Amino acid sequence: MRMRVLLTGAAGFIGYHSAQALLAEGHEVVGVDNLNDYYDVELKKARLNRLKKNKGFRFFQLDTAKEGALETALGSTKITHILNLAAQAGVRYSLENPRAYVSSNVMGHLNVLEYARHLDGLEHVAYASSSSVYGEREGGPFSESDVVRRPASLYAATKLGGEMLSESYAQLYKIPQTGLRFFTVYGPWGRPDMAYFIFTKKILTGEPITLYAPDIMSRDFTYVDDIVSILPRLLASPPSGEALHKIYNLGNSRPNRLMDLVGAVEAACGIKAKSFIKEQQKGDVTSTYADIRAAKRDFGFEPKVSLQKGILNFVDWYRKFYNL
Ligand SMILES: NC(=O)c1ccc[n+]([C@@H]2O[C@H](COP(=O)([O-])OP(=O)(O)OC[C@H]3O[C@@H](n4cnc5c(N)ncnc54)[C@H](O)[C@@H]3O)[C@@H](O)[C@H]2O)c1
Repeated sequence: MRMRVLLTGAAGFIGYHSAQALLAEGHEVVGVDNLNDYYDVELKKARLNRLKKNKGFRFFQLDTAKEGALETALGSTKITHILNLAAQAGVRYSLENPRAYVSSNVMGHLNVLEYARHLDGLEHVAYASSSSVYGEREGGPFSESDVVRRPASLYAATKLGGEMLSESYAQLYKIPQTGLRFFTVYGPWGRPDMAYFIFTKKILTGEPITLYAPDIMSRDFTYVDDIVSILPRLLASPPSGEALHKIYNLGNSRPNRLMDLVGAVEAACGIKAKSFIKEQQKGDVTSTYADIRAAKRDFGFEPKVSLQKGILNFVDWYRKFYNL
């Protein structure tokens, strides 16, 4: 079946790749994004320009946090599926600008659900949550059935809030929904506020990088193609029966230490990094590690790309995009 997907956050990093994956399989994508300036707007526009080359893609600039914005822009456009990725991302910025998180991640999510509730013929809403909902915890892997009640950052709290809103709308209005807990997604066309992007930029220009608690930090770095390749299948498989709201970890399930990331960027750039060491930042958790058995069982999710290969692809893209 050909899906017509409302994709929020279409100009964002994962949104861009998700749109490409859906379009490549012949689905239609109605993209929306407010093009905010949290990071370089030119990068968002460059992603959009590539998407606009595909006839199956349409775009509306709007803010999902604004009541009625989706309804006004989309009118009676038929939508069969929704992928809600629009959000204020980033853990550290949530200390500086907490209201941006509640606005996009809570109010924006609610507005998408309200829009969804009044659509005819809607089959499924999938949305981005985050590994950060697991908070600070020992060991791993972290499982979807773990109790998650101690968000270590406001970002995590708003993502958990989104999950709760979805649960209530699944129960109240029988909207089939799937929450996707992404684990440190990286790759070409990536996000300039993330460590791998900052390290690449600084290492290539000979600037020192800052490492926060590198002796204890690890992340389950997940290559973007590994995630988006299953999204068309996942969207086409809404939960049914009793549990209309399901949550899946989408991670690599092979955590790497922060120093492995530095090593991968150094190798890809062919330059040794100069670095400063600082203590762990407020809101950052020490480690993330995904149990991905559920996504593997239900969608055949099987991450394939190693950190070294994924970072090499990123650095290749970075050099081309910035002419370096
Ligand atoms: N990249 C990761 O490692 C990661 C990890 C966990 C969760 N996530 C989640 O995945 C989703 C996509 O993340 P990303 O890395 O692509 O981030 P991104 O910042 O590149 O993409 C988000 C996009 O949403 C747009 N946006 C923000 N608020 C909006 C609003 N109110 N209305 C319309 N558009 C709005 C932004 O302009 C941006 O283009 C987000 O929900 C994020 O929280 C990402």
